[in-house]
Parts: sequence; structure tokens; C-alpha cells
Amino acid sequence: EEIKVFCPATIANLNCGFDVLGVCINGIGDEMIFRKTNQKGIKIVKIEGANLPYETHLNVAGVAAQAVYNAINPSFGIEIEIYKKIKAGSGIGSSSASAAGAAFGVNELLGKPFTKKELIGFAIKGEALASGSEHADNVAPCMLGGFTLIRSYNPLDIIEIPAPKSLYAVVLHPHIEIKTADARALLSPNVSLKNAVEQSGNLAGLIAGLYTSDYQLIGRSLIDKLVEPLRKQLIPYFDEVKTGVENAGALGFGISGAGPSMFALCYGEDTANKVNQAMNIVYSNTKISFDVYLSSVN
Ligand code: HSE
Repeated sequence: EEIKVFCPATIANLNCGFDVLGVCINGIGDEMIFRKTNQKGIKIVKIEGANLPYETHLNVAGVAAQAVYNAINPSFGIEIEIYKKIKAGSGIGSSSASAAGAAFGVNELLGKPFTKKELIGFAIKGEALASGSEHADNVAPCMLGGFTLIRSYNPLDIIEIPAPKSLYAVVLHPHIEIKTADARALLSPNVSLKNAVEQSGNLAGLIAGLYTSDYQLIGRSLIDKLVEPLRKQLIPYFDEVKTGVENAGALGFGISGAGPSMFALCYGEDTANKVNQAMNIVYSNTKISFDVYLSSVN
């Protein structure tokens, strides 16, 4: 018995939702295959597209798979093939795709003892191996699709947020690598009350905008005074891309996850195409190679 799983890329933070908000990008993602075997345990038998360890306890997918497997301790084993399409350190949830995919795939072969929401708790064990912290803002949207809010980490409380029909994301991935752990080390553990107030206003505004399909409110709320000022120095031409996509009509723009990818949210496919072009124009004039992904996000 075997199954094939698609593990989509995701945008975490979305400016005002650091560590609590993320959205799934349709169309781009990894593939994994899970197969029952007679020999007990989890075994990674193939990895293509990335140079990653095969040892289960050193591999993000391995750790997440093992966590689900141990919780049930079945009489059979599971072997895993991993086909990475999302590059490590890209800021679009590469490690989370592996972690969420692994937890999901093992659960399927075990006869679905856990719900998808429960699996997120296992998947963040894998994510923590890569990033040094158990955050779920990529894992949750990868597992559930669409926008997800992590209202609380302890206990884990995850809310699925609806998205308006004409909302598109455009993601620019410059081919440089930023380790999430390094990007987190730049951040201050303390924030000012003024910034905390502004951030909660914007996060509430964004959620309200998503529920009511108020695109202008979504745009006004996509602001990040906590993290972006500290991290954008890691991302070449951040300000130039921001100017370009704002002139092209994007609702909002920011760093995708820990970077270096950048994202814009747009109303309608026409604007998304213009934003795509604007990103291409800025980065074509640099020496850095890049990809641009355009996707609806509902
Ligand atoms: N919320 C996380 C961060 C996402 O920004 O560090 C990256 O894994």
C-alpha cells in the first residue's frame, strides 16, 4: 500500500501576523510518497531535489513522521520518498512542507487516527529541527489550505480563515538562502506598547478584511513595524521591489516568512500579472537569479 502527497508552499507572517498567520500558495510544492513495509520504523529511502540527511532524527520529515508513528506504534513500518521542489531557506515554507507532508502521509497509512489539526502538533516537531522554534504559521496553512490563524500555541488553537474570491498572491524568490534561525536571531524579544497596539489593530483589520472581502481594508492592514525593519537588510532590493509593486497596484507587500522571498497580495488576476511584471523588471536588472510565482489564495 502506498500514497502520494502534495505539500504546498506557504507564505507566513503576512506582515501583521508574525508567527500566527499564514496562507497556502496553490500550485507550487513538494511531493512525497509513503509506503507500508514489513520492517517496523520510519525509513527515508529517497531524496531528490535537495541535499538533506537520510537519518530520520536529522531530517525534518523524518522527525515529524516518527512523532506520528510513535504515537500509534503500528506493527508495520513506513518508508518515505521525498521530492523537494521548494528550496531550503527560500521563505516559502520548505521545511514546513516536509514536516506537514510527513505527518499527513504517515497518518493516512495508519488509518487516519489523527485529524489534520492534531497533525499540526506533530509537524511542528519537525519544523523545530530546521528553524529552532516550534512555530506553525507555515505548517498550518500547508496542512489545511487557505489562510490560517494560530490563536494560541499552548494549547494549540488553529482557526481557518476564509479568503475573498479575487485575492491573488505574487511571490518573488531571489536565489539566495536565509536560514530561519538566523533571521529569528535578528529579532528583539521585546516590542514597544505602541508597536504592539498598531500590530494588533492591523492583524484584526486583515482578518476582518478577509471575512468581509474588503480588499482596501486588507491592503491598509498589511503593515509590519516589528519585524520588517530588522530583516529587510537581508533581502537585496527589498525597497525597490516594494516601490515597483505598489506602483503596479498591489494591495500590500512584505517579506514572506523569514525571507528572502517577498510577497504581494493583489485584487484580481490582471493586477497580479502587472505585479509579476514589476517584480521581474526590478530583479532582471540585478545579478541575482530568481523565480516569480503567481497564485490565487482561496
Ligand atoms: N514566522 C516565522 C518567522 C516563519 O518569520 O521566523 C518562518 O519560518
